[in-house]
Amino acid sequence: MSQIKEPPLMEKIVSLCKRRGFIFQSSEIYGGINGFWDYGPLGAELKRNLRDTWWRAMTREREDVVGLDATIIMHPAIWKASGHVDTFSDPMSDCLLTKKRFRSDHVEPQSGVVYTWTGARGADGKENGDSFSVLLPAGKPPESARKVGIAFYTQRGVANPELLGETTAKIENSRGFNPENGAQLTEPKPFNLMFHTYVGATADEDDKAYLRPETAQAIFAQFKNVEASSRQKVPFGICQIGKAFRNEVTPRNYTFRSREFEQMELEFFIAPDEAIRLLHAEVATWTEGADLSTPQPNWGWEMWHHYWEKERVAYYDSIGLGADLIDYHRQNPDELAHYARACVDILFKFPFGTEELEGIAARSDFDLSQHQKHSGKSQEVFDEELRTAAGKLDDAAKTAFVANVQSEWAQRAAKNGKSEDAARTAAQEFCEKLFKGLYVPHVIEPSAGLDRLALAVLAAAYHEEEKADVNGKIEKRTVLRFHPRIAPVKVGVFPLLKNKPELVAKAREVYDMLKGQMHCFYDETGNIGRRYARQDEAGTPFGVTIDFETLGEKGPELKDTVTLRYRDDARQERVPISELLDLLLPKVR
Ligand code: GAP
Repeated sequence: MSQIKEPPLMEKIVSLCKRRGFIFQSSEIYGGINGFWDYGPLGAELKRNLRDTWWRAMTREREDVVGLDATIIMHPAIWKASGHVDTFSDPMSDCLLTKKRFRSDHVEPQSGVVYTWTGARGADGKENGDSFSVLLPAGKPPESARKVGIAFYTQRGVANPELLGETTAKIENSRGFNPENGAQLTEPKPFNLMFHTYVGATADEDDKAYLRPETAQAIFAQFKNVEASSRQKVPFGICQIGKAFRNEVTPRNYTFRSREFEQMELEFFIAPDEAIRLLHAEVATWTEGADLSTPQPNWGWEMWHHYWEKERVAYYDSIGLGADLIDYHRQNPDELAHYARACVDILFKFPFGTEELEGIAARSDFDLSQHQKHSGKSQEVFDEELRTAAGKLDDAAKTAFVANVQSEWAQRAAKNGKSEDAARTAAQEFCEKLFKGLYVPHVIEPSAGLDRLALAVLAAAYHEEEKADVNGKIEKRTVLRFHPRIAPVKVGVFPLLKNKPELVAKAREVYDMLKGQMHCFYDETGNIGRRYARQDEAGTPFGVTIDFETLGEKGPELKDTVTLRYRDDARQERVPISELLDLLLPKVR
């Protein structure tokens, strides 16, 4: 007997998400739109819970981070200053036959024999002199390459083409051919990922504006306003959650790479290491096992970078993404942007591979300095203690300090292929400002994707179980084991029978008591086992059943108690209604 083939895990998750109302394709009734996704009733709750847990961990539970809620469309000069107008692009190639667009660096490298023709002649004698190539993988007949060649020239108006000037050459690991049909791809061209629009009625180039490709830049642009209004002093952070838009060349892996998505970003502003050295003589730098539990005044950027990595990993653990599901990619110096000191990507083991969930970058003072340069508005902060510390240095000590900074900056410039002289001059100016207590803050940026996180928690929660039903028949059921804190519905409330008004009235009472404190779902239809199973599949961690014991029909000692059922082990216990809130609230908040 042939075995029924199991669909891959990702397919099962996608299907469950649609069936249970987590995620729908955007505009589905019109055939959908690639790279855009809608969240249904359960998905909307899940995302809201993720947003809330992140916001709480990043600002409400901290004294040194405040929030921001900025516009999606901002002055276009912001994107010029940030570098996005000039460099926020991916390499893109088109298939010469199908016109399908590929992100060049995502094309699977292929090996084989390349067939090239100098042109083709039609049955009517008409010729086309465009050269065209096809990659033929090992084991395929040459005719299949020629078929693709004929299709190419036919498309260019050559009737019944005869291929001309055929040559062949072996090739290894090439990204230059369409993996689906072997046809040649165009040379990679940079494709700017920002969506644009026009602000106002005239719609000319001067009115061009962009949908933000990251939430971070608004934080930089509002840095001085927040600093002035929030009574925060460096080191402190500004965080924001909001939509971002990228016209990704190839959206893929469900919601993983979308064109509209949400980011949760923190820009944590710190003093440059040179300022810390002036203030504290020594800068605490990272060593394996360093104590990161409480930030210290003498921490340099490396300590802050590791501190935020630890904080973010602890956050993921607190919502059910433990160490076994997480991995790391520490960018090599040659992968780093020229202004970045370090970057660690926190990866999640998705069903389609281990991929980035969040990036934590040490971005130096690049962003604020760029905005200072382009806007002409100072982005410096003033630190009285720093000025006092500098004031205590005599001239010789100041000269030695400047020489030291110059040497460090020149070395860094040399490593990045930049002018050492320019670096020395900049270092001199920087030190003069520092002695006056002024500097442009540096930044550590933990930047996470909310949609990726939603997908990660769905994948981590997805479990299949086999269980015997009342007749002993083995049934397969799906359980979403969300951490209670992020579960879309926290409690299912069920009267044992719906045709017993006393049970229904009591269940309604319990539901009304709980619903103001947590998201509950009232369900009275179907047998109780089915109702439990429906909530297991939605990821609801607790079920409360109002039965005859609740009404006191099995003795006064059980009156006003309910059955509390736990999703993960189907354990049941009796709990007085009066104790339900105290028992559940700490688990779901
Ligand atoms: N401000 C820095 C920044 O935007 P990024 O690595 O480009 O850095 C940060 O993006 C996070 O945003 C990523 O780790 C990912 O979680 C999320 N993200 C980026 N592009 C995305 C996309 N096309 N679809 C879904 N999430 C995306």
